[in-house]
Amino acid sequence: MKSIKFMLAASAVATLTVACNTGAESKNAPSIKAGVTKANWGTVDGKTVYLYTLVNDKGDTVTITNYGGTVTSFITPDKSGKYSSVIIGFDSLAPYLQHPPYFGALIGRYGNRIGDAKFTLDGTVYQLAANDGKNTLHGGIKGFDKVVWDASVANDTIPSLTLKYLSKDGEEGYPGNLNVTVQYTLTNDGELKIEYDAETDKPTPVNLTNHSYFNLSGDVSNSILDETLMINADSYTPVDNTLIPTGEIKAVKGTPFDFTSPKKIGKDFAEVKGGYDHNFVLNRKDNSLEKVASLSDSISGRTMDVYTTQPGLQFYSGNFLDGRFANHGNQPITLHSALALETQHFPDSPNKPDFPSTILKPGEKYHEVTIYQVSVR
Ligand code: GLA
Repeated sequence: MKSIKFMLAASAVATLTVACNTGAESKNAPSIKAGVTKANWGTVDGKTVYLYTLVNDKGDTVTITNYGGTVTSFITPDKSGKYSSVIIGFDSLAPYLQHPPYFGALIGRYGNRIGDAKFTLDGTVYQLAANDGKNTLHGGIKGFDKVVWDASVANDTIPSLTLKYLSKDGEEGYPGNLNVTVQYTLTNDGELKIEYDAETDKPTPVNLTNHSYFNLSGDVSNSILDETLMINADSYTPVDNTLIPTGEIKAVKGTPFDFTSPKKIGKDFAEVKGGYDHNFVLNRKDNSLEKVASLSDSISGRTMDVYTTQPGLQFYSGNFLDGRFANHGNQPITLHSALALETQHFPDSPNKPDFPSTILKPGEKYHEVTIYQVSVR
């Protein structure tokens, strides 16, 4: 019980207390009140920051702040009915302002890296901030993860939160005013659904994603190298030593990158220099919403299925996590204690004409959907 109380808005705590005492009670607990509550979390850039708590009719809970559109927790039961968060994060705003490596945040305008921090579009060279060696990473110095989004709660039976942000023409060096809407929904089937929409008034690269880090056991003292992963990808994009794709699309067969059948992440780990931090080229015919990956953990019995409309998935095995930050419950977040499965377009696409295009033009509608569905098997 104590493990979830500290991270919820006051009203939701009362609601969930009964639901979490035992697994049996949580099934049809009459006291679960699905919905969204809001608590004041502080101020950034003169704007009020809130923490929103989304509860579904099973008692699953997602907390999201409009600072960076960040998912701060996703609380679900394990096989014994004990609730804990499968997403790492903090219980207050202050540590988020110390720039953790994108924990739970919305990433834009361009998720992942752009080589040499520049690209050419319609004959113009656009110079971006080099915030990752000579490259740009995750939108630049003040990306979408570090801004305060306008939030509204839909008056609906399924809890959801809509976030909006206008990224101005020239912001972080990108052309065009980009109007972005992200909707988070927590369904009664344990799905955290993220819908991304955007429109621009000048051609611009757009690659939006969410950078949640998962540890399905709910306890970061367990290594994610013991979790089992399937990625429906027959190929991946190899990278240079600054993590920029070489341009090659390489078959995973016979390499440590083969996750086409469920495999323990630690199995071939020693063969991957620096750990996994690669974009997988998802097997798909079109951009319909499809299951592309599945993660499972034997300690908790939890499985997470990932669905997306996107062509790529960055699997990052938490290679730069160094214990500087502590998770809910004050556990240090150390090397490989959590992983990210970032649905996206391929890194450095603006400089790789053979990769699927990331250029959004005026009059076009950017629309992508990703679902993280957690269940117990
Ligand atoms: C992404 C990148 C990683 C790393 C993390 C943040 O997942 O691919 O290389 O930069 O973000 O630390």
